[in-house]
Amino acid sequence: MSDPMLLAEERLRPHAEEAYAAELVALEAVDDKPRPPRWRLSPWAVVTYLMGGTLPDGTEISAKYIGARRLMEVAVATLATDRALLLLGVPGTAKSWVSEHLAAAISGSSTLLVQGTSGTPEEAIRYGWNYAKLLAEGPTPGALVPSPVMTAMESGRLARIEELTRIPSDVQDALITVLSEKTLPIPELGREVQAVKGFNVIATANDRDRGVNDLSSALRRRFNTVVLPLPADVEDEVRIVTTRVADLADTLELPDVPAAEDEIRRVVTVFRELRSGVTADGRTAVKSPSSTLSAAEAISVITSGLALAAHFGTGVLQPSDVAAALVGAVVKDPVSDKVAWTEYLEVVARNRTGWAEFYSACREVS
Ligand SMILES: Nc1ncnc2c1ncn2[C@@H]1O[C@H](COP(=O)(O)OP(=O)(O)OP(=O)(O)O)[C@@H](O)[C@H]1O
Ligand SMILES: [Mg+2]
Repeated sequence: MSDPMLLAEERLRPHAEEAYAAELVALEAVDDKPRPPRWRLSPWAVVTYLMGGTLPDGTEISAKYIGARRLMEVAVATLATDRALLLLGVPGTAKSWVSEHLAAAISGSSTLLVQGTSGTPEEAIRYGWNYAKLLAEGPTPGALVPSPVMTAMESGRLARIEELTRIPSDVQDALITVLSEKTLPIPELGREVQAVKGFNVIATANDRDRGVNDLSSALRRRFNTVVLPLPADVEDEVRIVTTRVADLADTLELPDVPAAEDEIRRVVTVFRELRSGVTADGRTAVKSPSSTLSAAEAISVITSGLALAAHFGTGVLQPSDVAAALVGAVVKDPVSDKVAWTEYLEVVARNRTGWAEFYSACREVS
């Protein structure tokens, strides 16, 4: 729950439904398409909210997801059925981001959230007890502490489960009844919670974690999976980084530094080449480091660079402002990543036209 006394602009990271409240209201106003029960917007309006566009009344809706519209349509359509949605993908492919925006646009709140870890208890999916009250009153409705999933069922909203595959399998199984029967029995009170129309679950899981706690096939059958891919090309990735960096610089109230398209393009190029193991022209093979070099890392490299440029630099983003954060993002393992990085620097960066300053800045901090 957010503190109502604290203005959205004061918060370091307002929830999607607060940060984009104006867009949601504008969409609601023009949305004349059929809405599933308790949905704040129609599926069409939800996809417009995610992909961006201009409304008939001239309101600009910003693009939250940059990629294939079809993926968002499938995700939204799934949530209108009795199947839950699983967003799957490698780190940094906007799974959590999309899940938050879906919940904000559909239910008006993205806060019914279970963060999956190896220590997530069953109470996080079912319910727990306030022990002081339990001892004083015994098991009464007042002593029960509902989980976010239970609250979502009772109010017909979306519950989000982050990193589903990190949750121990026996705890994951608590979801099976919820998803197939749409009820949550409370034997202690001799009652059950029946899900209200509008309830559904969005889970995210990381591709790389596969095998940590694989989804049981019983649970997997209750989900429709949408795989979020890495950005298709440099242009898409540059757009993702540029938009998010501008948003972040805004919330962090960094002094104005013109977002440097050239530096963003260079960081994105370096990351894409290292990730794919070959240069953009397809001519030179490079070693891939162990680090995940996703758009999310590029965003943080550029943001750190902007902070350096604003507070200690020339006020214009320079290669030397991004070099330190970039090397830090690439070299996670001091031995093997270092080898891959040095090779990239010497074989690729050194000889590229226009990269001389970048090359020496990286040499200095490597
Ligand atoms: N296709 C995309 N469109 C828009 N933003 C994107 C896209 N891909 C990545 N991003 C941005 O990358 C950042 C990281 O995304 P997010 O945290 O949602 O990744 P994730 O898939 O949940 O990763 P993890 O597996 O590490 O949890 C977000 O700020 C998001 O805006
Ligand atoms: Mg995530």
